[in-house]
Amino acid sequence: MSTGLAPDLTDLRQARLVEIVDAITSGLRDVVETHGVTEDEWRGALRFLTEVGVHEEFVLLSDVLRLSVLVDALSHPDGAGITPSNVAGPFWRPAPFLDEPATLVGEDEPGERLVLRGRVTAGDGRPIADAELDLWHCNAEGLYDVQLPEAEGPRYRGRLRTDADGRYEVRTIVPPPYEVPKDGPVGRLLAALGRHAFRPAHVHYRAEAEGYAPLTTMVFVAGDPWLGDDVIGADKAGLTVAIDRSRTPAEDRHRPCAVPRPDVRRRVPVRITATDLRSTVRCECRLWLRPTVAIGAASYRVAP
Ligand SMILES: [Fe+2]
Repeated sequence: MSTGLAPDLTDLRQARLVEIVDAITSGLRDVVETHGVTEDEWRGALRFLTEVGVHEEFVLLSDVLRLSVLVDALSHPDGAGITPSNVAGPFWRPAPFLDEPATLVGEDEPGERLVLRGRVTAGDGRPIADAELDLWHCNAEGLYDVQLPEAEGPRYRGRLRTDADGRYEVRTIVPPPYEVPKDGPVGRLLAALGRHAFRPAHVHYRAEAEGYAPLTTMVFVAGDPWLGDDVIGADKAGLTVAIDRSRTPAEDRHRPCAVPRPDVRRRVPVRITATDLRSTVRCECRLWLRPTVAIGAASYRVAP
């Protein structure tokens, strides 16, 4: 009950709950009435929701209905000169800090070798030193480590800090597009609707720095065939970066998931530049970050 001196938060929350549930109820009743939903159809809908709960797929359902991205966007509005926020997805896990040189994959990990570089800056371009970055992505088969029964400990994920100039560098592979789990009720719904389950290739980021708002986002690989048709609708403009393969030998361009040749990989120096190896390619991109934290001038480099 309100004291009359200040709004009673309990009352406000209850009023908001009542308002939103009333709106949902009204919308559902409209759908049922407008489309003449039958008893069989309604029982089928209730069975489906029960299965979603049993399979713990409500988050996935929220994702493919593109509600997760909408809620994230409402909670973290885009702004000029900032990198858009994005959903963390279901595969974030605590990850260790990486030793130098930072690498997210083992020596023999299949996949196109990638050196991911960039900067963390404020909105006005000032570098942010000692910012904590948390990166995670899938393997060359489109699976996160938590989806691998044989995985022991974190893989394809890790944390690192920016240097005094706000720069960071991490070695990994170029992640491919992947399908969200489709062996449960949500997958059956997608199939019944004639929808695919693909997400365009991406790397997840979390950035934190003292005095700045945390940022969670993801960066998409330009040219991915599923860009513009992400099953969860997270492929926002301004989060796409290009991988420049112009210096990659022609024979390598068509083997994006090939295991790197060990003899060539050993020649890769700690810091690759476009001129170190003829087959090294470079990708430059700039990301506009959230109001108080920025990851700018990120670069992707693909090592042979
Ligand atoms: Fe992902």
